[in-house]
Amino acid sequence: MTNTNLSSPRTPIKILVTGGAGFIGSAVIRHIIHNTQDSVINLDKLTYAGNLESLTEVSDNERYVFEQVDICNRAELDRVFKQHQPDAVMHLAAESHVDRSIDGPAEFIQTNIVGTYNLLEAARAYWNELNNERKQTFRFHHISTDEVYGDLPHPSDAGANGKCSMLNGELNDDTDSPLSIHDTDNPLNIQNSKLNIQDTDNSLNIHNSKLNIHDTDNPLNIQNSKLNIGSLPLFTEQTSYAPSSPYSASKASSDHLVRAWLRTYGFPTLITNCSNNYGPYHFPEKLIPLVILNALEGKPLPIYGKGDQIRDWLHVEDHARALYKVVTEGKIGETYNIGGHNEKTNLEVVQTICTILDELAPIKHSKLNIQNYKSLMTFVSDRPGHDRRYAIDASKIAKELGWKPEETFETGIRKTVQWYLDNQQWCKNVQDGTYQRERLGSIDN
Ligand SMILES: NC(=O)c1ccc[n+]([C@@H]2O[C@H](COP(=O)([O-])OP(=O)(O)OC[C@H]3O[C@@H](n4cnc5c(N)ncnc54)[C@H](O)[C@@H]3O)[C@@H](O)[C@H]2O)c1
Repeated sequence: MTNTNLSSPRTPIKILVTGGAGFIGSAVIRHIIHNTQDSVINLDKLTYAGNLESLTEVSDNERYVFEQVDICNRAELDRVFKQHQPDAVMHLAAESHVDRSIDGPAEFIQTNIVGTYNLLEAARAYWNELNNERKQTFRFHHISTDEVYGDLPHPSDAGANGKCSMLNGELNDDTDSPLSIHDTDNPLNIQNSKLNIQDTDNSLNIHNSKLNIHDTDNPLNIQNSKLNIGSLPLFTEQTSYAPSSPYSASKASSDHLVRAWLRTYGFPTLITNCSNNYGPYHFPEKLIPLVILNALEGKPLPIYGKGDQIRDWLHVEDHARALYKVVTEGKIGETYNIGGHNEKTNLEVVQTICTILDELAPIKHSKLNIQNYKSLMTFVSDRPGHDRRYAIDASKIAKELGWKPEETFETGIRKTVQWYLDNQQWCKNVQDGTYQRERLGSIDN
């Protein structure tokens, strides 16, 4: 397929962004208006998750227009394409919250699958009518998630047939560089036993290998030491799809439609699959804003299951930069995985937020009857079908398009907590009374 890209230097283009009033879409629009000469048409239905207040800093800009349209409404989509004549589409509009998809999948099927189909057809009809030059440069960028891949092996997954096995025993090691395990299939099994690691700099390194711990009360104690686990598998662009939730299944379906439109009609599409985002303007039903806001009000901080689910966190502004790079410089027909190389358990995320809040918003004892924010942590029943680990191999986009995240989790989460402290009015305004940070998606509610 011919591949003329839209990278600079070039005349400014018009980008139709769907879902631009949402968390990531609004970051994309702020990025484009602040950092490029391109124009944006923001097409959004304004569901509970869409809020134009996230765009106040760009809404007066002459390069920005808003269209309140449902992507399931074909006639309105045709009108928008005809009226605004975009050069590219960035498709972010979706129902996006896994817990809501468990409570009510219908909306996810409608918007994420039927809506994407409608948008593809409206865009294709418009593209068919473009002159040859514009047809060559037009592109349709579908924004998807790493959740389509299902989940990955978790560090605590068990195996058998170990090389170094301990049964009913203890492994005590007093050497400086105590225990390294490299490149074996299944090296260290601990059953009915304890592995204690104390006060070493770099005590247990496991590379391309597994640590299996079975049936012990207190299996792995690590104090003032490190447990390094290298080479657990990552999601690549070749990983097979295996979605677990109605949300991820609906996103997987939409990805398949987009690929089929490329293959069958030669329609110029690109897909990106990204890991969990965090940052400013995130609707408070998602883990990070929910924890910050609940903590500030002295409400319980819900941790699903044991809190050991691992996510690969990416700051939303890093994602926005990656998406702009892909739509303007990516190769038509390609998929790019986007991730932050920040694997954290949910428990670690919540504890980190609590520590930052203890520093930035110390508890006033007269108001909340607690010593520190961590004491609000509350373990609740796990989400049904909860994926245990996601982690992205983002080497393709790094190598081919030169994108790398700028924020580490440590820098990004601190800025995010500060943003929520500074923007509590936004948080109040987006919770319009229908959503009050109650538990969603537990089936037996
Ligand atoms: N949030 C994440 O961590 C993450 C990670 C990877 C990929 N994604 C994907 O990125 C996209 C954006 O995610 P987000 O977190 O910004 O979601 P969001 O829920 O914050 O925003 C979705 C936006 O889409 C709009 N919308 C919903 N239904 C619509 C419809 N029928 N017609 C028009 N607009 C509609 C909403 O009003 C809202 O503004 C989604 O496709 C999501 O699957 C999200």
